[in-house]
Amino acid sequence: MSAYERAERAVSPIAEDVLSGLTRTPKALPPKLFYDAEGSQLFELITELPEYYLTRTEASILEQFAGEMVEAAGDEITLVELGAGTATKTRTVIRELLKRQRRVNFYPIDVSRSALEDAARSLNGDFPGLALHPVVADYCAGLEEIAKSASRKLVLYLGSSIGNFEPMQAGAVLHSVRNSMRPGDALLLGTDLVKSEKVLIPAYDDAQGVTARFNKNILARINRELGGDFDLEAFKHVAVWNPKSSRIEIYLESLREQVVIIEALGLRVHFGGGERMHTENSYKFTPHTVRSILNMGGFEMERSWTDRREWFALHLARAR
Ligand code: TRP
Repeated sequence: MSAYERAERAVSPIAEDVLSGLTRTPKALPPKLFYDAEGSQLFELITELPEYYLTRTEASILEQFAGEMVEAAGDEITLVELGAGTATKTRTVIRELLKRQRRVNFYPIDVSRSALEDAARSLNGDFPGLALHPVVADYCAGLEEIAKSASRKLVLYLGSSIGNFEPMQAGAVLHSVRNSMRPGDALLLGTDLVKSEKVLIPAYDDAQGVTARFNKNILARINRELGGDFDLEAFKHVAVWNPKSSRIEIYLESLREQVVIIEALGLRVHFGGGERMHTENSYKFTPHTVRSILNMGGFEMERSWTDRREWFALHLARAR
């Protein structure tokens, strides 16, 4: 490794998160580490898996009801999307907005520059009335950026990503979203719903092992960016349904006792055989728990749309 590469690794933006995550008990790595270019690509593959009903179901609800949603949002809307990714599902909303107004300003916010570039490439040719303003940032910085705009907003927060926060934290996140909006602005929130474990577990542990690769990409990323020597074969992807907390829990389980070295952190980490390292929670909601986080955030729940099996729901909430 050259001195330059070492310097690069020393200032890697993930260094602090990895250091604190691997030195605490029990070990845990934050889910935002999933989404580098490689991880974002793997997540796109997850959304196409037969077992991962979330994206497909949400898209079908949008296909069916986007007209009603957009109408409920109001007139002359500026569209904002948190964690837009490649903005595939957003096309339905844009199409409906362009039926009602000549021009749509769209601010997709995402930490992944490559995903936003894909979004821009695919949207630009297809919607002449669309003005794209991509924002490469996390939610907080991105929302500050759009808070200045005076026009009425519809903020999309799709994919049930809100379920990746602890409920209290979800309320706080919605509150900070609310603070970038004005009273009367609309939020369209996607949430996955509580359902049978027989459906939930395969969605987070698919037969092809794509989700396992996605989870292990955190380890691969530490190897790439921090000079780690994680043996990906020595860890197992684990998904557990916790009915009491109404959440799927994702872990990486060490298959044997081992020591992992992370060069850029000057760190040796010991793993016991069977030791589980937490990487993600995915909360599943009921109408009651959705209302609760929305109210914490300073929103009034106005209307919900769901699919025939009631597996997923989209909620239109109004900023108080
Ligand atoms: N937001 C997605 C979800 O909770 C993220 C996700 C899908 C995920 N599959 C995963 C996170 C597997 C960790 C592991 O559905």
